[in-house]
Amino acid sequence: MPVSPGTSEFETHGSSNQMRSDVKTYRSFCLLFALLFFAACEKPAPVAVETAPVSAETVAADPARAAIAIPDSQSAQVTADILAKGGNAVDAAVAAGFALAVTEPEAGNIGGGGFMLIYLDDKAYFLDYRETAPLAAHRDMYLDENGDVIEGMSTLGHLASGVPGAVAGLWSAHQRFGKLPWRDLVMPAVALARDGFVVHPDLADTIRYGTRKFDGKTNFSKYFASAKAGEIFRQPELADTLQRIADEGANGFYSGKTAELIVAEMKRGNGLISAEDLQRYVAVWREPLTAKWRDFMVLSAPPPSSGGFAVIQLLKIKDLLSHEFEGLEHNSAQYVHLIAEIEKRVFADRAEYLGDSDFVDVPMDRLLSDAYLKQRAREISVDSISQLDNVHPGLESMDTTHYSIVDFDGNAVATTTTLNLSFGSGVVVEGAGFLLNDEMDDFSVKPGVPNAFGVIGNTANEIQPGKRMLSSMSPTILTRDGKVDFVVGSPGGSTIFTTVFQMIVNSYDFGMTAVESAGASRFHHQLLQPDVVTYSPSVPLPDETISQLSDRGYRAIPHPFDYGDVQTIRRVDDTWDAGSDPRNRGESRVLERGQQD
Ligand code: DON
Repeated sequence: MPVSPGTSEFETHGSSNQMRSDVKTYRSFCLLFALLFFAACEKPAPVAVETAPVSAETVAADPARAAIAIPDSQSAQVTADILAKGGNAVDAAVAAGFALAVTEPEAGNIGGGGFMLIYLDDKAYFLDYRETAPLAAHRDMYLDENGDVIEGMSTLGHLASGVPGAVAGLWSAHQRFGKLPWRDLVMPAVALARDGFVVHPDLADTIRYGTRKFDGKTNFSKYFASAKAGEIFRQPELADTLQRIADEGANGFYSGKTAELIVAEMKRGNGLISAEDLQRYVAVWREPLTAKWRDFMVLSAPPPSSGGFAVIQLLKIKDLLSHEFEGLEHNSAQYVHLIAEIEKRVFADRAEYLGDSDFVDVPMDRLLSDAYLKQRAREISVDSISQLDNVHPGLESMDTTHYSIVDFDGNAVATTTTLNLSFGSGVVVEGAGFLLNDEMDDFSVKPGVPNAFGVIGNTANEIQPGKRMLSSMSPTILTRDGKVDFVVGSPGGSTIFTTVFQMIVNSYDFGMTAVESAGASRFHHQLLQPDVVTYSPSVPLPDETISQLSDRGYRAIPHPFDYGDVQTIRRVDDTWDAGSDPRNRGESRVLERGQQD
């Protein structure tokens, strides 16, 4: 069965139902773009979340406990302290964001961007602090005179960076919802940077990887090579930068000394980010994407992320095919095949229709409509692999960071933030001590040419000044009868939403605990190549599944990196079950009131 992005319903966007036999065909899709209406920075009304009637058997009282699931022990302690001091989930998320910028330099950041999904007092909010293309950026900036992509230019060095959004985002979240003083949320990070912290062996390994990768290309080693496992690592320049942010708020980053240092760094390396870019950056409050699924409301990331769209399509198409899934064992060959078939279609739509909705018209209502999803479900080939073309993804070690928090009042925050690849562009802002992102690679630098995650895009995601690059980050919350039931997210580039989807299904269909689900083998399929299913190398699919998939014409192979670092919290009766991905150094805790550690 051929796979194409969209269907006749979207013919106005220039797609067709023909089988795409190679990537060039993708380039020929012509998406009509709607024109710029830039930076809607005013706050939309919170989304009124539709609730089903309350049923006494299913809805437990709000746990009088808080819970966190976060990528390392230092940020876990900072977060627990803020909650113990009376901070709400947003305060805790802001403090966690700054702490991770110190203790998880490969992904935590102030030089990158992210998304924060908030569920507070029974209302949902979404904050977009994704990076933007600098004003001097242009569509073909990564192409040579022959129109070919220049290898590495969008992933490494000064030209790879978008305008950072992290500090504006954390500031905006605090301005709107914070309870504790701003300084109280930033100062723990200042202390971690100034006094140092003990380096975890995994972090030391990742830094060694970064040192090799950026050797002779950026100033990475000068700042990070001294970090050794088990020893204290201090970052004095970063401490000064964070202190300016603690004292002056977002202005401590977007103007004054920090801004001057960023602009000077850009000049040194012929980068594009200007003082005007920094001045103009705004975090945007958007409506979260919401959908009813079983007894739940799924709340997730809207464009410029493809994450929410994908999680919702995956969940709903799977349920439309529930008869096919009946009795199938978790991660059996047929289970993997059916999910891979659904994922093919999700990635086909992602490549064609998704982009920054401030710049392009994303037909979200139609993409999530029941009629369309039914049609997509009918296209699934139950027995054989839907064929498409063959493109070689170029994957390498990656990092992003996600954390999930529920406070003592049952409010939740799911935050995913990133520099893109591990340590971003590898460029540290001299004098300011923080890494800049390489998020520009998330744009489609040329239609049909895969990015670092092996996914392709079209004009909807081409580079335009001020535009946000398409993301897969999927901070997601499920509510039931208006109460938080599940909080989840993960790094992993294009594997993020297939991971989030599997976390939800593992919990609700297979009854796994948070840790069981986070630690289970995951698999991933992303359209190109059509017969490849990858799985987590450290926790492979069962041998029997791999061999049966191979009998059916799949190549089931280990993913090129141990993707995902899932951080989940799920409600169990009147308490929380929190779980961090056992593959990494995360920590999860359920906190009693008055408890500090
Ligand atoms: O926004 C995105 O989808 C990517 N920049 C995320 C990168 C990522 O997750 C890398 N980590 N594994």
